[in-house]
Parts: sequence; structure tokens; C-alpha cells
Amino acid sequence: MTINYPHTKKLFLVITFLVTLLLTQIAFSQEPVVQLQVLMGPSGAARWQPFITEFQEQNPNIRVKITEGPNATNVLEDLYTGSFLLGNSPYDLVYMDIVWVPKFAAAGWLLPLDNFLTPGEVAEFLPGDVNGGRYQGQLYRMPLRSDAGMLYYRKDLLAAEGYEPPETFSELLEIAQALQSEEVPWGYVWQGKQYEGLAAMFVEILQGYGAFWVNPGTLEVGLDRPEAIKAVNFLRQTVQEGISPPGVTTYQEEETRLLFQNGKAVFLRNWPYVFSLASQDNSPIQGKFAIKPMPSAPGQPSGACQGGWGMGIAATSKHPDAAWKLIQFMSSEEVQRRFILDNGYVPSRKSLFNDPEIVAKYNHYPELLKVVQSSALRPPIPQYAQASDILQRYLSAALTDRMSPEKAMAAAANETRRLLGVSKPQGAEKI
Ligand code: GLC
Repeated sequence: MTINYPHTKKLFLVITFLVTLLLTQIAFSQEPVVQLQVLMGPSGAARWQPFITEFQEQNPNIRVKITEGPNATNVLEDLYTGSFLLGNSPYDLVYMDIVWVPKFAAAGWLLPLDNFLTPGEVAEFLPGDVNGGRYQGQLYRMPLRSDAGMLYYRKDLLAAEGYEPPETFSELLEIAQALQSEEVPWGYVWQGKQYEGLAAMFVEILQGYGAFWVNPGTLEVGLDRPEAIKAVNFLRQTVQEGISPPGVTTYQEEETRLLFQNGKAVFLRNWPYVFSLASQDNSPIQGKFAIKPMPSAPGQPSGACQGGWGMGIAATSKHPDAAWKLIQFMSSEEVQRRFILDNGYVPSRKSLFNDPEIVAKYNHYPELLKVVQSSALRPPIPQYAQASDILQRYLSAALTDRMSPEKAMAAAANETRRLLGVSKPQGAEKI
């Protein structure tokens, strides 16, 4: 019997190839799939989902589940807090507002990120956003977008009556009142509901009156000072004089945006996300508005509340490396460029402010840079959530006429001092 050697060799090679293929496939399908979980508000979830889908396509072994929570930052914060306090938190990633960082880091709920990236890589982001992500020198949150409060105004209405955009609070009131009409019933809309947005808006008015909330270095509390009372009175005046609608004390960002976008208000205080929405083809005020830094009292600085969102890794996550891979993807220059182009947010990467594609689409960015430069901080202290809650309660009481501004702010200041364990400085003005 003759054996056909070349034929056998061929067969052998084919079998070896098939076996290798099979083994590779078995090995590949057995590579564990890592499941990451994160909680986000509906607008964050909708805006990030396409990028997360892209990430999953590039990383078939990492699945990311976004759980949708509410939009209000303090309610979202409560949900994360509850899950970390109870233990067994399902979240690997923490999608975080800038004001949560000291509390979450101090509680030990976050993993320090410094080992994942070099100082040079950190330096590519805006210092305000990076500092907002640090606690006691360590980085806990990668900034994914910055945010800053600003004044939107109807440039067509102002120009028609020969007004320049307001620089001071009294000019704002005067112009608002002069331009209110049947068609444009409201002069000024702002976030007056009792929630975190009220505190964010109020730090801008405080800074504009030369007042302060809590000095993070000394823990001195300034809410009962005469300048702070002036800030409260300014807001009350807008309601009392019918410049702002009575419902303003129940509005969050979206209610105020809709009024302004539908042409019902001359001025609006809001964040940069409004610009792209109010510029869309279906917007009644497309091309009719502009932005500028918030007004202030004569001789005082303007205040743009420093906001913004970023991502941290939960200390309890079993998959920190996969979590970091996702953060790296979301904060990369390429993804950030597309995310900003899609959503009109303020970049947190410095280079994107001069990015030709971004500048071509959003020609208000030079003005936006001016706004970002006059930032007003909410106190970066671990007890921030409680301090904010105290301020929100008393400020809301003063704005809805349930307490006088003096009484409300004295009570807010004293409760804040008790929270921080400090006493009222000697010789402080009596009200
Ligand atoms: C925006 C800001 C955030 C702020 C919140 C208040 O989301 O980015 O920092 O706390 O508004 O509503």
C-alpha cells in the first residue's frame, strides 16, 4: 500500500488550522465581560449614550449600563450618597457635579485617579475644573465638561430702544422694566426654586455685591453681612416689581430657558447649554440674543458660578481598570471635541477653546471665555451639601416672603456656623 504523503500533510495542516480557530474562539468567548454601572440624569444619559455605544463597539468585553436618575443635581447626589452609605453600591463610576467632590472624597467613596495619568495630561484641562476635582491634593474626578453661569439678553429688543447690555444690577432692572411688553411679559428670569440651582445662581449675585458665603480657608460665614442682604433684596425686588414672574421661585433651569426661548423674557440667567438650543432653526429667538458676564454692583466683580460635570471611580468598584478605560475615552480630545460640537457645552480641555471646528460652529466662544474667567465658587468644603441645603431653605423663605431677608440670612449664617463648628467673629456688624 502506498501512502500519499503530501495529501496527508495537507489534511493535517487543515485540521491544525481548524483546531486552533476553535480554541481561539473558545478562549475569546470565555474572556470575562466586565459590566460597569453609572447613574446619570436623563439629559446627561441622552447626550453620553452615543459615545458609550461607540466605546462598547471598540471594547467588546466592557459593557456599560447607564441607570437614569433625575436631572436635579442634589437629588442625583442623594441617590449616590444613599447607595454608598448602604454599602453594596452597584455603581462603578460616579458621574459627578463639581460640588460633590470634597464630600465624596472625604467619605472615602472615590478612588484617587493620580496613578492613572501624568501631571502633564492633567495640565491639558482648565485649572478651575481640575482644582474642583481635587481633595487634599489628590485628583478624584476627571472633568468632562465645564459650566459657567451667564446673562442671556435679547439683543434685538435692546438695540431697538438704544440700550447697551447692562453692566450693573440697577441697569439690568431698569432695562428689563423698560422693555417688558404684552408680547414680552417678563424682564428677567432666573432659577428660584429651593434646590442646588438656587445656590449656584445666588453665588453670582453675592460676588456681584462683593459678598461671600463661606470662606473655604477660614470657614468664616458671610451670609448675614449687609452686602449679602443686598443680594437677597435684589432678587426680591425682581419679583416684587413684576420684572420676574411670580412663579420664578419655583423654576429650575429648563422652565427659565423655555420662557426665554419662546420670546417671553428680555433677560435670562442660565448655563451655556441654552445657547445651542435657543439657536436651533425652530427657536423663535434664533439669532436675536447674545450672552455676557453677569452684571454686578458698581466697582464689584462679576460672578460666573463655576459648575461642571466629570467622572470618578467608586472605591468599591471591582473593575477600576475598565472604569478608567471608559473615563479615558470620554475625556479624550477627540471625543470631547465631538461631544462639545453636538451639545454646545463649555470644554474642559484648554485646546478646544481655539479648535477651528468648534470656533466655526460656536462663534460666541470668545465671549464665553470672558465669562469663564470671572468664576464664583460654591465653597469647596466636605459639608457643602448641608451648607447648600441651609442656604436654599432660608433664601427660599426670604424670596417667597415667608421671612425678612435680615432674619432669614441671620438664621442661615448661624446654622452654617454651627454646621462648620465656628463662631461669629467678634465685632461683626449687628443687623
Ligand atoms: C449645572 C452645573 C452644576 C450645578 C447645577 C445646578 O448642571 O454644571 O455645577 O450644580 O447646574 O442646577
